Amino acid sequence: MDIEKQKRAPLYEALERLRRQRVVPFDVPGHKRGRGNPELVRLLGEQCVGIDVNSMKPLDNLCHPVSVILEAEQLAADAFGAAHAFFMVGGTTSAVQSMILASCKAGEKIIVPRNVHKSVINAMVLNGAVPVYVNPDVEPRIGISLGMQISQVEAAIQENPDAVAVFVNNPTYYGICSDLRSIVELAHSHNMRVLADEAHGTHFYFNDKLPVSAMAAGADMAAVSMHKSGGSLTQSSLLLLGSGMNEGYVKQIINLTQTTSASYLLMSSLDISRRNLAMRGCESFGKVMQMAEYARAEINAIGGYYAYGSELCNGTSCVGYDVTKLSVFTREIGLAGIEVYDLLRDEYDIQIEFGDIGNILAYISIGDRIQDIERLVGALADIKRLYSTDTQDLFGLEYIPPKVVATPQEAFYADKEMLPLEQTNGRICSEFVMCYPPGIPILAPGEIITEDIINYIKYAKEKGCSMQGTEDPAIEQLNVLR
Ligand SMILES: Cc1ncc(COP(=O)(O)O)c(C=O)c1O
Repeated sequence: MDIEKQKRAPLYEALERLRRQRVVPFDVPGHKRGRGNPELVRLLGEQCVGIDVNSMKPLDNLCHPVSVILEAEQLAADAFGAAHAFFMVGGTTSAVQSMILASCKAGEKIIVPRNVHKSVINAMVLNGAVPVYVNPDVEPRIGISLGMQISQVEAAIQENPDAVAVFVNNPTYYGICSDLRSIVELAHSHNMRVLADEAHGTHFYFNDKLPVSAMAAGADMAAVSMHKSGGSLTQSSLLLLGSGMNEGYVKQIINLTQTTSASYLLMSSLDISRRNLAMRGCESFGKVMQMAEYARAEINAIGGYYAYGSELCNGTSCVGYDVTKLSVFTREIGLAGIEVYDLLRDEYDIQIEFGDIGNILAYISIGDRIQDIERLVGALADIKRLYSTDTQDLFGLEYIPPKVVATPQEAFYADKEMLPLEQTNGRICSEFVMCYPPGIPILAPGEIITEDIINYIKYAKEKGCSMQGTEDPAIEQLNVLR
């Protein structure tokens, strides 16, 4: 990384120049720097609406960057050790989907762990690629999915030598990392690409005490949520390319679904955040690691809770752990993760990232302060004292291995009927069902609905998980193949 060059932020600088020029706008957006929408100005401020502008020559164009956006992308590539970086304004979802659409066509196979974010399987609904699922091992005590073992990837490759790519979570939402370096070596030796979902791994690029990043491990593409740990505005993201990728082709793929009116608020936030990370990322994430380790020790000292960390590493299905993640297993105090999530929000005004069946995840980042951590620890101690119950009837698993009988695209577009949930046992699902977050489907199109899955859905609903994916918003009925 060229630290002198990293001090620049070309897109942000171009916007500052525009602000000084007082150009008269006869172009969109129609709010005309806020003048046509005073309520919006009151909400966001003049600074913000004043740079909510459309593409114009001095500001370049995201669909075909040739000047300031291109320079900003090149600086991002340099900061992340990539051959090229694309600014993305459709969330990491758009980056994940572009990786898949750029790597496989209808009927081609891609090896994926089944505990992927819905955006991965959605992409296969769109382009007809065929998933070859690797069922992750489940951690026996806490019920969460671990990473893919190299032996599992090897077996999937042996059985599917015609697969074109291997997809890897680096890390999972809970912080688990597979052996990415070995997976890259293995996949490349079989002429398969490696695509990494780094929605939760932006910080891996800026502190070498953290697990290896996709680009450092030699992956071909990575989808990086700058808006999560990187500090940029919600929905802004990066798609990174390794050497050997055809940048022009990937750009065409991105432009199949990308807006032609990309937000300069989002793009300039990527530019500024990249500069921050390049300048101060190592130090900032060092502090984040310390805060998360401190919180883990304090929460474990309360008793009952299990705030897990790098002791989960076992050399096979968990080869690295992202210690910035503060994931806590709550079942032993007799509460589902989602119940602790609701209590924290309703009784203590603390908003955490998610609560699922047995765990909560508090997201610790460069914006946190130690006094906020103390408040979280205090609230958890209180919750245990006031609300803990007998653990008997709590569900144990976050992951139920699916039985796949049709591709996501075939099942999604098939002739279907809607049935009450109780009557769907044994039928093939044609839609997604998931708790969001984390957004890992319990059911995806093409999978057999089982008694265990029906019970899981009922239990998650009863406990108050926020669920989505189905045509029926109440999830009382499911679409199944006729
Ligand atoms: C693992 C994973 N991949 C991709 C995404 C999609 O990111 P975004 O919400 O920015 O579209 C998420 C979102 O939480 C995620 O958890």
